[in-house]
Amino acid sequence: MKAQLIVALDVPDKAEAVAVLDRLPAEVALFKIGLELFCAEGPGVLEPFLARRKSIFLDLKLHDIPRTVERAVQAAARHGVFMLTVHASGGAAMLRAAADAARALGPQAPKIVAVTVLTSLDQSDLTAQGIPRTPGDQVLALARLALAAGVDGLVCSAQEVAALRQTFGPQPLLVTPGIRLPTDDVGDQKRVATPAAACRAGASYLVVGRPILESADPAAAARRILQEIP
Ligand code: C5P
Repeated sequence: MKAQLIVALDVPDKAEAVAVLDRLPAEVALFKIGLELFCAEGPGVLEPFLARRKSIFLDLKLHDIPRTVERAVQAAARHGVFMLTVHASGGAAMLRAAADAARALGPQAPKIVAVTVLTSLDQSDLTAQGIPRTPGDQVLALARLALAAGVDGLVCSAQEVAALRQTFGPQPLLVTPGIRLPTDDVGDQKRVATPAAACRAGASYLVVGRPILESADPAAAARRILQEIP
């Protein structure tokens, strides 16, 4: 399947989110709403996007007891989101509760994707948490746990995509932030890749924020990224 662009709405409020929507070409069909915007505006922020037939990736990184996550997945699904995130470190029972709750909703079920190791964590953070593995090994261990529990995919850096495809095959959705065109500022993203490289490695979705949002011409920036997707 051809990879798809998801524009990350890392903006403080609904007015700015709608301004981004208005400036982008119609081909941009998927948007990510994360904690900042969702906490600021609540589910009402989805309305202008759904009204224009856009799909929403709700990136709330759920991590709680299985029953709470199950109910949060059901509630998010009622808002019509197409994909949402959970933390793989929430454990097998939590992951299964999320995956089963989604699957029970039938064709309207949101995809559940699991975050493995946050890109802000390094070896010393894992050691401080009592985890003796390297970040790469921890990503693979959590990915295995999450996929065995029935989630649809994983959030991972573009540089992990090839190893995850090799280990887990073509089925899992691989959702990849840290995408930059060769001319872009890297910002605080450490493990970056170009759209073409991420797609070649096997990414399913490319999540792009600042290269589009901070561009003088967001529509042109989005088009350049879309053109790079083979
Ligand atoms: O860097 P960019 O603005 O394109 O970020 C897009 C998304 O990537 C963000 O919404 C965030 O979820 C994720 N991100 C990340 N690691 C960082 C910075 C952002 O995974 N260091």
